[in-house]
Order: sequence, then C-alpha cells, then structure tokens
Amino acid sequence: MKKIIIAAVAENGVIGRSNGEMPWKSKEEFQHFRNTTLGFPIIMGRKTFDSLGKPLAGRLNIVLSTKNDYIIANDDVKVFTDFQSALDFCQSQNFEKVFIIGGGVIFELAIKIADEMIISIMKFSAEGDVFFPQISEKKWKLLSKEERSEFTIFRYVRREHESKQN
Ligand SMILES: NC(=O)c1ccc[n+]([C@@H]2O[C@H](COP(=O)([O-])OP(=O)(O)OC[C@H]3O[C@@H](n4cnc5c(N)ncnc54)[C@H](OP(=O)(O)O)[C@@H]3O)[C@@H](O)[C@H]2O)c1
Repeated sequence: MKKIIIAAVAENGVIGRSNGEMPWKSKEEFQHFRNTTLGFPIIMGRKTFDSLGKPLAGRLNIVLSTKNDYIIANDDVKVFTDFQSALDFCQSQNFEKVFIIGGGVIFELAIKIADEMIISIMKFSAEGDVFFPQISEKKWKLLSKEERSEFTIFRYVRREHESKQN
C-alpha cells in the first residue's frame, strides 16, 4: 500500500492557520485534490477534520486524535489515536493507496514514512502559522512538475524507492 502525502503549499511554505482556517480558496486546486484522492482513504489530524465541517465525500475519512473520547458518529469516518493503527487498518482493507492530507502536525509525522508526495505549490504567498516541513533533496527525488494556472504540481518519490519505479 502506497502512503502518499498530498498538500497545497504557499510560496512561503504556509499551509494553514493553527485556528483551523485555510488562508486561501482555490477551486482549481481543490478539484485536483478531489480527482486524486477520490475512492481512497484520507488520513488527517483532528484540527483539519474539524475545519472541514463535514467528511469529504467519496472517501473514507480517517481522523487522528490523541483523545480516546473523540467520537464521530458517521460511517464514512474512523478515528484512531495513533498513526500506525490508522495505516494498519487501511492495509487490512487492501487499499492500494492511502492519502495523508494534513495538517502541519500530521505532515511532520508523515514525511518520515510516506512513499510519495504530491505537492501543489501555489503561485502566491499566504499569511499563516502552519507550515509544510522542509523537503530534503537527499531523501526525496523530484519526478515531475506540472503547471496549472494557480499552482504547480510537484511529484516526489522517496529516494530509497527509486529503483522500484524504473
Ligand atoms: N494546505 C494544505 O494542504 C492543508 C491540508 C490540511 C490542513 N491544512 C491546514 O492546516 C491547519 C491545521 O494543521 P495543524 O497542524 O494545526 O493540525 P492537524 O495536523 O490538522 O491536527 C492536529 C491534531 O491531530 C491530532 N494528532 C496529532 N498527532 C497525533 C498522533 N501522533 N496521534 C494521534 N493524534 C494526533 C491531535 O488531535 P487532538 O488535539 O484531538 O488530540 C492534534 O491536535 C489548518 O489551517 C488547515 O486548514 C492545510
């Protein structure tokens, strides 16, 4: 099962605000996110889930919270108290891919274990206090760059997986 980070990052590295707000709205980027993730589980932090207001349709929404009493009564949502249990669950369901969709705290954990990253770099800076982690060129190989009008999509693979791609 491929573990794939998907994120939208402003030119200055900002991805959001710790009060849960997204600093921008881009229909084009949301469409790319939707097309890429539809049908697959999406793993997110509790703050990101709260900020969505409702589960994202057509995907199993997996929420990470450290609180045992954080319960969402919805068949499309599952809550786990640790990242590995969430990944093990997806593996047990035989999903081919799982997407890790943020926010900042979850990306910090995920960048250590993900196989691939799909990063939209927006063509503007944004005000915020949640940032995407530093991408190490030693660890991540850039596979492709795709221009869209409001952003550029950078696809990365973890260097130790390079040979499997060829
Ligand atoms: N631009 C993008 O691509 C993108 C994507 C997603 C989100 N965002 C933005 O990012 C911001 C939110 O990011 P954030 O860093 O503040 O919060 P976050 O990563 O969404 O959520 C953090 C929460 O996740 C839970 N958590 C963290 N580590 C955990 C672990 N190891 N095990 C279990 N649960 C764990 C905790 O929930 P509890 O407090 O309940 O324990 C923690 O408070 C928002 O502005 C959002 O809009 C941007």
